[in-house]
Order: sequence, then C-alpha cells, then structure tokens
Amino acid sequence: KIEIKIDSLLKLMTIEEKVGQMNQYNGFWDATGPSPKNGSAAKKYEHLRKGWVGSMLNVRSVEQVRSVQKIVVEESRLGIPLIIGFDVIHGYKTLSPIPLAESASWDLEAIEQSARVAAIEASATGINWTFAPMVDVSRDARWGRVMEGAGEDPYLGSKIAIARINGFQGDDLTDVSTIAATAKHFAGYGFAEAGREYNAVDIGTSTLHNIVFPPFKAAVDANVKTLMNSFNEIDGVPVTGSSYLQRDILKGKWNFNGFVISDWASIREMISWGHAKDKKQAAKIAATAGSDMDMEGYVYIEELAQLVKDGVIDEALLDDAVSRILRVKFELGLFEDPYKYCDEAREKEMIGNSKHHDAVLDMAKKSIVLLKNENNVLPLKKEGQKIALIGALAADKNSPLGSWRIASDDNTAVSVLEGMQSYKGNELVYKKGADVSVGSTAFVKEVKINTTDKSEFDEAIKAAKNADVVVMVLGEHGFQSGEARSRTDLQLPGVQQDLLEAVYKVNTNIVLVLNNGRPLAITWADKHIPAIVEAWQLGTQTGNAVAQVLYGDYNPSGKLPMTFPRRVGQVPIYYNYKNTGRPTNKEGNVFWSHYIDSENTPLYSFGHGLSYTTFKYSNLKLNGKQFKIGDDVTVSVDVKNTGAYDGKEVVQLYIRDLVGSVTRPVRELKGFELVEIKTGETKTITFKLDKETLGFYNNQGEYIIESGDFKVFVGGNSIHTLDADFELN
Ligand code: IFM
Repeated sequence: KIEIKIDSLLKLMTIEEKVGQMNQYNGFWDATGPSPKNGSAAKKYEHLRKGWVGSMLNVRSVEQVRSVQKIVVEESRLGIPLIIGFDVIHGYKTLSPIPLAESASWDLEAIEQSARVAAIEASATGINWTFAPMVDVSRDARWGRVMEGAGEDPYLGSKIAIARINGFQGDDLTDVSTIAATAKHFAGYGFAEAGREYNAVDIGTSTLHNIVFPPFKAAVDANVKTLMNSFNEIDGVPVTGSSYLQRDILKGKWNFNGFVISDWASIREMISWGHAKDKKQAAKIAATAGSDMDMEGYVYIEELAQLVKDGVIDEALLDDAVSRILRVKFELGLFEDPYKYCDEAREKEMIGNSKHHDAVLDMAKKSIVLLKNENNVLPLKKEGQKIALIGALAADKNSPLGSWRIASDDNTAVSVLEGMQSYKGNELVYKKGADVSVGSTAFVKEVKINTTDKSEFDEAIKAAKNADVVVMVLGEHGFQSGEARSRTDLQLPGVQQDLLEAVYKVNTNIVLVLNNGRPLAITWADKHIPAIVEAWQLGTQTGNAVAQVLYGDYNPSGKLPMTFPRRVGQVPIYYNYKNTGRPTNKEGNVFWSHYIDSENTPLYSFGHGLSYTTFKYSNLKLNGKQFKIGDDVTVSVDVKNTGAYDGKEVVQLYIRDLVGSVTRPVRELKGFELVEIKTGETKTITFKLDKETLGFYNNQGEYIIESGDFKVFVGGNSIHTLDADFELN
C-alpha cells in the first residue's frame, strides 16, 4: 500500500521537489522561533516554502518542530512533511551513560531499554529520527569517537546494534514514542589512520567484511530505517561516493530499502578529498553512488536538478532516492499526521520524567567495570571511616554527562561528591587537588587541559594523609572524547598522574575511579593502586551509580568492550588479532613479533571485569568431537559463585578456527550470556555454535564455513578461559 502511495506522489513531483526531498538543512531557529533574518536562513525559509527541503536536523521542542513543519505542510505545493533528525546518542535531556560505557554492561535488555527511554523523551519534543546507533567497530583508543560506539568486537557490536535499534524503533514505528534509527557511519570510519579524526582509512577486504560490515548488516536485518555514510575514504574513494558500499553491498546484497543520509557536508567534502573537482561533480558522484540525502551540504539542492535536466544523470536515480525517503516518512505515519510528535502535554510530562532518571541510574550501575580490587579494598565500609575524596572530576556536574549531549542542560549530572555525600556514615572530606580543564567545555570547542597548575596539590595531600581510604576521581573531561577529539596520548591528562603519585606517597589505600570516554593506558596506576573502578561518563545519574558501587549496594558486573593498552604505542591493540608467522620467543632470539620496550599483552583485556564475588568455571563440555559442516555444536559450562556476594557474570564463548584459507584470529567472540548467580550456587550455561557463527567472509565477500580443527574457549574474559577442541568435516 505504501509503495502505491509513493508511486502516485512521485508522479506529482517536479524535479526540484524531488531534489528537495534529498536536501536536509540544519536548524536556523533560535529561542524565539524561526529567524529567517540573515542570508542563509532566509534562503532555507524560502526553500521550505517551495517544498525544497525533505528534512531538518537540530530543530527541537514541540513549538519549533511544529512551526517548521507548518511551513512545508501549509505553504509548499505538495505539503510533504519533514522528517526531523537529531543526534539522540545517549539520551535526550536525561542522559544515560555514553554508548561505550553502556556496551560494557553486555546487558542487551538494559541497552534496549536505554534507547527506548531516549526515544520516548526525544519523540516527545517533536523529533522522529535519531542519528544513532553508531555501530563503527574501532580498535584505536586514540580516536575520540570510540565513546560513541560499542567497542572493538563485531559480534558484541552487532548484538548491541540490534538492541539499540529495537529500543529506538520499537515494534511499531507509527507509535508516537518510537523514532527511526540510523546505523552510522557506513563504512570504516572507526579505522581512521593513526586514530586521527576524518582521516583516510586503509583496510583490507577481510577486515572490511569480517570486522566492519557485520554490525551494519545486523542493523539492516533488524530493519533499521536509515544509514549514514562517513567522512573517510577507503582505498582512495570517499565512502559518500562509493557505489560499491552503498549500491552493491547495502542496497544490493543486503537489500536495504531505507535511505542513506550523508554525514554533515560529506558530499561537498569530496572536493577537498580530491575526488570531485566541484559541487556539480560531487553531486553526480554521490547521487550515482546511492547517497540519498545531503546533510547541510548545499550540493544536491544547488546542482542536482540541472544535472538531470542536462541529461548527465538519470531521473530514475532521484526516483529511487526519493522513494526511499518517502517510504520512511510513510512508515513513521507522518503523512497521516505531520504533527503527531507535537504534543505539548506529552513533552512536558516526558522531559526529565523521574522514571527516566531511574532507568539511566540502572544503566549507569550496569556500565561500571571493576578493573582491579586487591585485598578487597572495595566495597567501602559504610561507617566509621575517614574518606578523602580527591579530583576535580569528583565534584564536576558537567563532565560526567559526556560528549554528544546537545539537548541536555549543562551541570545537570549528579556528581560523585554528591553521590558519596548521600552516604552519611563516614566522614567525607573533598579536595580538588587540581583542575582538569582550564579552557572551554562547550560542545563545539576544544577543551584545554591544565598541564601546569599544581597549587592545590598540598591540600589534597594533607586530606589524604588523614584518611583511612582515599577515593580519587581522575580521567578525561567529557568533551575530551567524541567527534574531533583524537588524542596521541592515552595517559591521565594534565597534572593528574602527578597528583595520583603525590597522594600515593602519603596514603597507598587508594580507590581510583576513572572517568573517560576511551581506554586509557594507566599502567602505573595498575601497578600501584589497589582498587580501580572504570566509571566512564555515566550521564545524569553518575554520582549515585558510582557511590552505590563503591559502597557495595550494587555489585559491579561490567566487562570491557575494548582492550586497554599498556602504552599508546601498542594501539591498535585488540583481542581478536592474528597469530603472525612468528608468535613466540625462541630462547632470547630477537626475531619474533614483539616490542623491545613493552609486552605484547594488554593491560586489561577485552571482556575483563571483576565482581565483589568470584566465579569458578568448570566442566566445559561439547556434544561431540566430530561434526559435519551445517551441524550445531553445543557447548556447556558450569559457573559457580565462590565468593561472599550474589553477583552477575558475563560468561563469554570464543572460538578459534585453526587453519583458514584466509587466516583466522586467535580468538573470536561467538556467544555470551549475562547470568545472575547467588553465592554458593552453580549454574550451567549452554551455547550453540551454528552456521552463523562458525564461518567467515572470504576475500570475495562470500560467507563460507571451512572444514578443519576448531578450539572453543569459555570464561569470564578473553584470556583466562577453559578450552576444548572439535573438528568440522
Ligand atoms: O550525526 C552526526 C555525525 O555522526 C557526525 N557529523 C554530524 C552529524 C549530525 O550532527
């Protein structure tokens, strides 16, 4: 039925109106509403009236969405409603943890629920399309956008992509509390050379098919409505202009029937890449390659109609793109009611709703990873202790909100200090020790880090001297990661390492709480500090979540979705590496694959994360030793809670295909289960390895399963595991 409606609408449209649907503008609204006062705003306003705009981004609030929608619906010839996009990345006003942190929960239900809450809030403000989830796999902690993804693994990344899409889109896209999702950035953006933002990408076919593509393919199979392409090139072709990616793979092989939005001006940027000589050529390349909508790039709107009229490109290309865009608008129900997301009463009720605060608190606790806990320093005793809380980030109410939070209000996070203060039984003294940032903390500006001022060290040291336990909250400012925040150093920024060492000299009983949007190389801390808690940037409820974990009211169960290096020079470092031809040392011989100044191994491996209790793995069993290709292999293992607390464990299953026509990684995650196990209790966990998990993509991009020997590993991280063997024939 929708297809018939699309066809009849297409027949009514002029070339300019078709191009208009492929044009997206950034909002030009201010607090008082539309402000078409200056040149470009006036032009946008005019284009809306002509029906030359298909979508807007960054227009928010019911009032503003209604006013812009009204222009196209009432004044343009065909009244085709706008689709309203926004970066709802980890919540709207009420913020959940940054996506990398959420991924550390390995809790797919919670992640889906978190996206659901974000969709409920965002849709109540008039938005019906989010530019999330980011499903780019990345192995490079220098890249600032790792905070926005699900980490380094394609299997975990695929499962999380599906959970997020289901959360945003729900079961019924016409439901007013759901929004269309975007799997971004297609493709390869997470492999920017040297971790430098917007850089070229140079990856081989095997990595593209086996590591980069799977979460996108999973997203398409989960019925994601849109994909965003990316700023990078691969093999010399900017992906915005790649027919291979967008036509052959996405719309061809994967049969995707939604639409592709460019990234911000990425069509125009093909000129700077040296792939198009001007906007005309950029428009031709992008439209031919299957980029359906131009985000604030002014290329399609200025060039495309003429290119069709001159016979340079076929109008059928426009028809294909416009059909895709209209399809999503129909599916959202915008033609039935363009104002369906514009309900002031719902907006008032939903923004900052207390249920959303409960949900993001729950997600925040689940996202925390206990990296180290020597001598059971944690959980803290609730009474009779003198606690020194040190670090500027401990009292910061802005930084924990993380990056990508355009709609939230500044300084609205519960700080760690506030969270700790709600536990009254101990004496708590707070000292900043040193500022982390001294420059702007606005979304669009660089954060300047304090690298010199140590004037407040002494007071912190004095407080530490008098304390039973020192809790230090150190790490990155929330705006030190995210888009365009690449780093060449992965240590604690600024003077924080010096502060940590100075405090350690007077009191070694330290709990280090890390705030960061990427893996850090905290090798000194790991060697000296007895307890380390990875608390990322946990959003609105940060302080409450951290305090509940530190005091043992919540037993942490998070596991790292990304490897932590010992040193930045190991990056890219990841668990599913290749063995190389020289994997081991022979009696001091230098000619093997290693560093002369560091171990190869990570500081904390992918999948690592402790609990206040302990788990013992035993009895790994397979339902046979020899299998035929196509058979399922059943793997079971017993996991016993051997400690003093009830707890949750992420039981992880990895395989190794020992010999492949294309070499296989030393380990590949192929299953996981989050299980709750009471103290003393044993649970048997069963996994199935099937044709979805036992094969791989060859260098022709075909999925194949090869016969041969396999190993299975099961455990609580990617390194310390039980193992068993089987053969496929
Ligand atoms: O959605 C984002 C994208 O991820 C990066 N560039 C800007 C877009 C819109 O804000």
